[in-house]
Amino acid sequence: MKTSIRLAVLICTAIIFVTANIVMAQKAGGPWTIPAKYKSMKSTIKVGDASINSIGKDLYMKHCKSCHGSKGLGDGTKSASLKTLVPSFASKTFKAQADGDIYFQTLVGRDEMPNFEKKIANEGDRWALIYYIKSL
Ligand code: HEC
Repeated sequence: MKTSIRLAVLICTAIIFVTANIVMAQKAGGPWTIPAKYKSMKSTIKVGDASINSIGKDLYMKHCKSCHGSKGLGDGTKSASLKTLVPSFASKTFKAQADGDIYFQTLVGRDEMPNFEKKIANEGDRWALIYYIKSL
């Protein structure tokens, strides 16, 4: 009898341990579905515009650094507490995307990636931010 209780406790502990690990593990968000109207979007500023390292950088430090990290590597202070893996802006897959894809991801977001349409309302500021993260 005692042995079976001990065995039951052991099995329960093992189940809790395994479940906790599955629940806590971060998952990559996977490919994004970008609506056509965003895909074809063109920037209102040029590469190298002075606003990228001023307005773009300021917006990044204020709104994005906490999750994405100061260099955009996905290692911000909040990143470890999220269920979704925060992707790196230094990766080839990120940089290979169209500007419009990054616009949608940045402004509209999904799940744990917040929506910034209200917080960042100016079109030129939005593009300065997008070009800033592309430069990381
Ligand atoms: C609360 C944490 C958090 C904040 C703040 C945040 N992000 Fe994110 N971001 C995420 C997460 C998590 C993902 C991955 C989402 C997914 O794949 O479902 C993500 C994904 C992205 C992506 C898609 C990258 C890729 O390669 O898939 C872009 C672009 C992005 N964020 C830009 C920004 C910008 C710009 C800001 C600031 C205006 C910002 N994020 C603020 C958590 C955050």
